[in-house]
Amino acid sequence: MRKGENSVFTSEDATLEINRLFEKDSDELEWEPNKNQKFRLVIPPTVYPPREDTDLLARRLTSLGPGRGRKLLEIGCGTGALTILAASLGWQVSACDINPYAVAASRGNLEANMQKATIREGGVGPEKFPYQGQFDLIVWNLPYIPLDQVDSTLGPMEEAALIDTDYKGLALRLLNCVKNNDLLSKLGRILILGRPNSVPSQADFAIRKWDTLEFDDGEKLEINCLWRPYEKSAKNYVEITGSTNDDLLNFDGPVGTHISTSHQTSGRGRRDRTWKSIEQCYAGSWIVEIGKNINPGLIQLSGGLAVLKTVNDKRLNLKWPNDIMFENRKMSGVLVEGRTSNGNTKVVLGIGINLKSTDEILDFEISSLDEIVDLDHKEIDSKLNCNLSSLLESGSDLPPVDFEDIREEVLQHMKDFGSPNYNGKTYEDFGLSKYGELILGENTIDDGEEINWI
Ligand code: BTN
Repeated sequence: MRKGENSVFTSEDATLEINRLFEKDSDELEWEPNKNQKFRLVIPPTVYPPREDTDLLARRLTSLGPGRGRKLLEIGCGTGALTILAASLGWQVSACDINPYAVAASRGNLEANMQKATIREGGVGPEKFPYQGQFDLIVWNLPYIPLDQVDSTLGPMEEAALIDTDYKGLALRLLNCVKNNDLLSKLGRILILGRPNSVPSQADFAIRKWDTLEFDDGEKLEINCLWRPYEKSAKNYVEITGSTNDDLLNFDGPVGTHISTSHQTSGRGRRDRTWKSIEQCYAGSWIVEIGKNINPGLIQLSGGLAVLKTVNDKRLNLKWPNDIMFENRKMSGVLVEGRTSNGNTKVVLGIGINLKSTDEILDFEISSLDEIVDLDHKEIDSKLNCNLSSLLESGSDLPPVDFEDIREEVLQHMKDFGSPNYNGKTYEDFGLSKYGELILGENTIDDGEEINWI
């Protein structure tokens, strides 16, 4: 591969590669994506055959149950393996591939396996996307080798199947294509298989890992599921209110219902303290759970994690259990409150952020977001909404909420902040219980006031 040029290969390169590869016959294999199904597939040269990554996606697709006529879009269909499986499960499938030989192979393989789908040549750009309309599920087994990790030798057709040819990542290009062409239906889902962290975080889609695959050489792949955050629930901005937590505790709405404001007149902090609204602050609350067996400790830590992910700056720290600190000054706080009626508890999570520096005299020195990054109320709000949904939203067609992952990530942030000192003893090594309590040797602590951080 010639690096550093805009166009890596010329069309002559493609012709040479095809001529060379077509000296070889097509392969054929029997693909068994699950115990009950087998498909015979012809694989012409240059077309990506079903491999373990295809099998992983196939298992996830099968687990979603019958398609019942819902619309599925497969990008980069290769031999058509997943398209054939999806069609056999009752999805109405549209698929595309930028390799014309893959398009031909998919069409032939569909017919040979007595399945129906629409296959077109094309992909996520720069040319016009080959389909219009909306899809309930969009699936892409992303070419996952980053451009800068390819030394040489691959031809253009092989490259298209294996290498992420976009310097910003093809996943981002896919998400832009989905947005620009309005391809995702209401409550639609996107499944992307790629290397860890290959899908950039942004405010439009919540994201959670669903499956992982590890090869002998240490290469890891994962399926991430993306969806529009808390899509079924109302979001509201009000210029002024008493307390956004109060508003939602008194409001009868579903999980995900959200309200934010720039001014609270009676904002609440932990331990019945007042949360003072400084000029141009951010205050937002969400109904994050309604039910039984609630784990408020980890929900509270998830709120802090959502703030850290939203600002995404290593200089921000989490001071257990609910303070977000910049240079040892508090920038943001999290408050989880619950109300139980008829045996069900409604949990409201509130986040307060100082957006701008203030001359007001306060009891302690605070920091503000404008010291770190330029984000306004609206941007912060939609990113927080997305990060909270990524961490906490649950649904039968979403990957399960992973509190274990959340706990580990939070613990790492706590360790970056320092070591807890309790009763005069400093603990270099500490942990978090499954309820989000601090574990210091034999002691389990649930109150941040008892700890000094060193
Ligand atoms: C703390 O650090 O003590 C927690 C502060 C939490 C403040 C937020 S602002 C939005 C929500 N509404 C409230 O009344 N409080 C929380």
